[in-house]
Amino acid sequence: MKTPRSAQSFLSIPEQRRFRNKLLAWYEAHRRDLPWRLNRDPYRVWLSEIMLQQTRVAAVIEHYQEFLRRFPTVEKLAAAREASVLAAWSGLGYYRRARMLHGAAKVVVRQYEGKFPRTADAWRALPGVGRYTAAAIASIAFEEPVAVVDGNVERVLQRVSGMRLTGEELWQVANELLDGKRPGDFNQAMMELGAVVCAPRAPACLTCPVVELCVTRGEMAPTAKPARQNKREIHYALDRRDGEILLIRRPLEASLMPGMWELPELTSTNGTGSPSFTLRHSITVSDYTVHVWRAAESRAAGKWIPVERLKQVALTGLARKILRKAEML
Ligand code: ADE
Repeated sequence: MKTPRSAQSFLSIPEQRRFRNKLLAWYEAHRRDLPWRLNRDPYRVWLSEIMLQQTRVAAVIEHYQEFLRRFPTVEKLAAAREASVLAAWSGLGYYRRARMLHGAAKVVVRQYEGKFPRTADAWRALPGVGRYTAAAIASIAFEEPVAVVDGNVERVLQRVSGMRLTGEELWQVANELLDGKRPGDFNQAMMELGAVVCAPRAPACLTCPVVELCVTRGEMAPTAKPARQNKREIHYALDRRDGEILLIRRPLEASLMPGMWELPELTSTNGTGSPSFTLRHSITVSDYTVHVWRAAESRAAGKWIPVERLKQVALTGLARKILRKAEML
C-alpha cells in the first residue's frame, strides 16, 4: 500500500511556517500587477480564473478588460445573448468555458438572487467550476482556507519535497502547507512562484525565496518531454465584395468551436500566383502555416458579412487573427 505523504515528510512544522512567511513576503514584493488583482470582487476573480483555465496570462490580459467592459456585472452577463458572450470570448479559445460561464451567471442571478457562493463546495455546483477553480475563487475572493493545485503548484511541491507526489497527495500536502490566515495570497503566491521562478525547464533557483527549504534546488528533471507539434499548411479565402466578406459558420455539432464563424478553407489552390499573406498559428500541439488568398472565389456556401459588423461576430481565434492582419478588424 502507498504510504500517505504529508508536508511533514519534508518540512518540520517550524520549516513550514518559514516557508509560508518567505513565500508571502516574496509575493508582496514581486507579484505581477495583473488586472484581476486590483480587488477581490468575486465576479472579477471568477472571470479571471475561468479565462486562465487553459490560456496563458498574456492572452488573458488582452481580453479580460474588454470582457469586463462589455459585461461589467454578473447581471449584465446573465442577460446577454450567447452570441455576444462568444464574440467577447473570441481569441481565447475553448469556447465551452464561455458557454458555461454564461450558464453559471444565469444560475447566480436567477437562483441565488445575484449573490455569489462563498465556499469552494458551493462554487463547485456551478457549471464550469471544478475543484481547482472553486478553491481558487473561494480562497482569493472570500479567504476560505482551501489550497489549490494546478500545474505550477504541482511542480513546486514536487521540487520542494523531492517526491513524485501525485493526485490526492498533492492536494493533501498543499492544504497542509497553506497559510490559514492568508489563503488567497498564499495560493496565488504558489502559482506565481511556479510561473515565474520555478519554471518547468529552467528554474531560477538563485532568486527563489524558498530555496533554502527546497530539497532538489533545480536538480529535478522535467517529468515529461513536450509533445511533438503537428505541423500543417492551410489555405483560406478572403473574399471581399462591396464592403462585405464571406464567412462560414462551423456546424453546431462540431466538437471544436461549434457555431463560430471562420473564413472558407481552400482544399486546393489553383497552383498559380502566391498568397496575399501568410501567418503562423500555433495552438497547443498544432503549428499551422496559414496562407490567405484574396479573391479566391471560393464557392463556399457562406454568408456575406459587412466588414463593419465583424466586431460583433463570434469569430474563431484564427479568423480574428487573419482579419486583423488584413486590417479589417
Ligand atoms: N493562474 C490561475 N490563476 C492564477 C492566479 N490568481 N495567480 C497566479 N496564477 C494563476
